[in-house]
Amino acid sequence: MSAQAGMPAPTRIAAQLPPRRYAVTEPPAQRPTWAQVDLDVIAANVALLKRQAAAGALMAVVKADGYGHGLVPAGQAALAGGADWLAVALVEEGSALRTAGITAPILVMTEPPATAIRALLDADLTPTVYTGAFASALAAALADLARGEPLAVHLKLDTGMRRVGVPQAQWEDALRQIRDTAGLRLQGLWSHFAVADEPDNPFIAHQAEEFRRGVAMASELGVPADITHLANSAGTLHLHDDQHDMVRPGLAVYGLEPTPGLFGDLPLRPALSWWTRLSMVKRLAAGESVSYGLRWTAARATTVATVPAGYADGVTRALSNLGQVVLRGRRVPIAGTVCMDQFLVNVGDLEVAAGDDVCLLGEQGGVSVTAQDWADWLGTINYEVVCGIGRRVPRVYLGGSA
Ligand SMILES: Cc1ncc(COP(=O)(O)O)c(C=O)c1O
Repeated sequence: MSAQAGMPAPTRIAAQLPPRRYAVTEPPAQRPTWAQVDLDVIAANVALLKRQAAAGALMAVVKADGYGHGLVPAGQAALAGGADWLAVALVEEGSALRTAGITAPILVMTEPPATAIRALLDADLTPTVYTGAFASALAAALADLARGEPLAVHLKLDTGMRRVGVPQAQWEDALRQIRDTAGLRLQGLWSHFAVADEPDNPFIAHQAEEFRRGVAMASELGVPADITHLANSAGTLHLHDDQHDMVRPGLAVYGLEPTPGLFGDLPLRPALSWWTRLSMVKRLAAGESVSYGLRWTAARATTVATVPAGYADGVTRALSNLGQVVLRGRRVPIAGTVCMDQFLVNVGDLEVAAGDDVCLLGEQGGVSVTAQDWADWLGTINYEVVCGIGRRVPRVYLGGSA
């Protein structure tokens, strides 16, 4: 971790952020359960990340429907904030970005099956390569198409995560194969950290060193990459010596921390909040139970309210008798089993009414419930929480060109 020379003071950065827009928009007509995404916040987050990064360029990761925020709007907002590249996991994600008119370079971070190569080429996506078989399949497809220009590819080196990437023992062969394949040009060389969110883990330095070795090997073999990239959000935030030419953040683009506290003074903030409105309110007597399995029983007379969102929307059933929401500026607990479309909350003697706004994620009246809270309750990570917001929850966009 090196000092960041020239990093602007946080107060100056803060002055450039858009105003907070946690105000609730009108829900879509059909259903009072919706997720709000402030595209100006995504753009501002990207601008902040790029300014504080040691690397000159930024590739915003928008796979998995922009981590649940919406693929195309997230991609557009990231580009508006200064992203130079976008990254996706799947060819169809890249094709959808192209269909929406995005012309920026797009990296597909995993090798697709050979049957997707034609779609990849048609959409002018940049493939990641890490097997000889895929490199050969690409070359064969290019030969069939009789393309004049060689195809720019990014070679992924496995530096220790051992998920996908060229295993260390095969780096030299892989580099030679790309060098010697007429239709391919090595544009990028990259790798991925396994533990970047644990700043003190020595495996970070090990992987960084291995990656430097791979970059040097490429040069020695006469196939230097134009762009090298390694750092995810955590690496972008705290590994300033190992960012190479481009950082590759995902989660931080959306204003979420890979590890609590990792943002430090950097005023990144969540772009997404998730809302619904109470559908029913009722008073229970002591001893009365609610929902499937009758797994929650009122210890005393109390008010329970029905919330029209359920596990089919991403309010996972494991939150039964566990999670909390914000209602009238107070945290209230989920009572009983979360159902497919609904759950209940115990509000005690709080005055509430059908139609009241319920904040599932975000902030209401200065009280917040975060994706990290959900992750803590569920024993998972905030990534999974936002990716888990169901497809049937409409996304309502603020800012951007919306
Ligand atoms: C290969 C790769 N690069 C970058 C990222 C972005 O990581 P993060 O969301 O932690 O910034 C991911 C996310 O899973 C990834 O798989």
